[in-house]
Order: sequence, then C-alpha cells, then structure tokens
Amino acid sequence: MFDWGKHKLPDDFFRGSCDVHCHLLPGVDDGFATAEKSLQALKKLEERGVEKMILTPHFMKDYPLNDRTNITSEFETFKAVAEKSCKIELRLAAEYMLDARFMDHYKEGFLTLSKTGKQVLCETSYMMYEPGISEMLYDVMCDDYNIVIAHPERYEYAVRDNYFRWRDKGFYFQLNLLSLSGAYGKAAVVKSHYLLKEGMYDYVGSDMHGLENFKRFLPHIRLSKKNIDRLGLLLENNKKLFD
Ligand SMILES: [Fe+2]
Repeated sequence: MFDWGKHKLPDDFFRGSCDVHCHLLPGVDDGFATAEKSLQALKKLEERGVEKMILTPHFMKDYPLNDRTNITSEFETFKAVAEKSCKIELRLAAEYMLDARFMDHYKEGFLTLSKTGKQVLCETSYMMYEPGISEMLYDVMCDDYNIVIAHPERYEYAVRDNYFRWRDKGFYFQLNLLSLSGAYGKAAVVKSHYLLKEGMYDYVGSDMHGLENFKRFLPHIRLSKKNIDRLGLLLENNKKLFD
C-alpha cells in the first residue's frame, strides 16, 4: 500500500462525525442491495461514533426511476425502519451525474446536501469532461446553487490546471476518504494527497457502497499529522451541512 505519511487515523477519529456521501439507501442504485445490509452497516458506523449521515443515491441515466418523488418515498420508508434500531440521524440528498437528465432533476428541485443552503453533489464521467457540462452548471449556479464536485481526485483526465480552474469557477470539492488509501488506484492516491495538502477540499465523504471495501482499505490510510488535522477540519465542515 502507499505510504504518504506515518500516522494511522486515530481510533476515535469518526466520533461525532457526519458522512455527506454514501449509497446506504437500499435497493435504489449500485450501493447497498437490501435494508438488512444497510442496517448492519449503520450498526457498525454507530459503534465507530458516527452520528449523522446524508444519504446520496445516484441520480443518473442508469437508474431512470430515481427522481425526487420516488427516492424521497424510499428514504422515508427506510428511515422509519432504521430509527427503531439506530441512533444515527439520517437525511436525504443525492449524487447527480452531469448527464442528459441533470436539467430534469434541476427542474424538479435538487435534493441538496445542505438543509438550508443550496449545495448540490455532482459527479461526471471518470473518463472525460463531456461537452455541454459548463453551460448546464452555469445555468444552475445562476440560480444560486453551489456545485460540490464528488471525488475530484478520481477523474482520470483531470490534472492540476483543471482543479484550479474548477476552484476558480466556485466549485466545492468533496474527497472520497478511501482515495487516500489506494482503493481507487495510484493516481487517485497522488491527487487526493496533493489536494488535501493544498487545502483544496471542503468536505470528506465515505461514498460507501458496501462495508467490505471499507473494512479492507480504511486501515491502509497513512497521513502526516498536518493532513490528519486537515481531514478533521473537513469533518467539521460536514457537520455544518447537516445542521
Ligand atoms: Fe457516490
């Protein structure tokens, strides 16, 4: 595994924390398949001290049934079940792919990360920055929405200049925690450590699709003391989104 620092995350690092990106809402995308598995994960996360989670199912062409109405209904059903066995507070948002359906979701009203603000979690293709995206985002931002780019470190085409340009456009960045571990390959490790060191991230999320990947890769994260502190600040920012 990659070694970009000497220190493991402290055991209590996630105590009191809030996750802002996960696919824990069961049966609606490529994340957790059943409510039973989601409830098992919530139990484990509660043991680690996680207190709040924003569930962000995929809204993209691959899941045509995922719209605001259907997903809100799925969420309310799951939340009612989860509340019986778990103290973690749950809220609903979404992860929007910047594809042909994005503007439909805009018209129906985005499920935002923030309760009171207008932060919208967005992702693009990992392979290429598709034409037309800038125009779509311009329209949305003119309506006072703030764009949070999910896992910028994972976009294969993105180099240093892209990141600075996106920041200049006012986009926020959300780090995928496991990018630091090598779970998504060497390029994502290099980019995530660089962006963290440069203070370019605003939030950190698990992007959890299942527990297995987490159990496997979380112990491999090694950071400098300064980067552990920077990660802690991102967790503080996460909480501000929830409240
Ligand atoms: Fe995701």
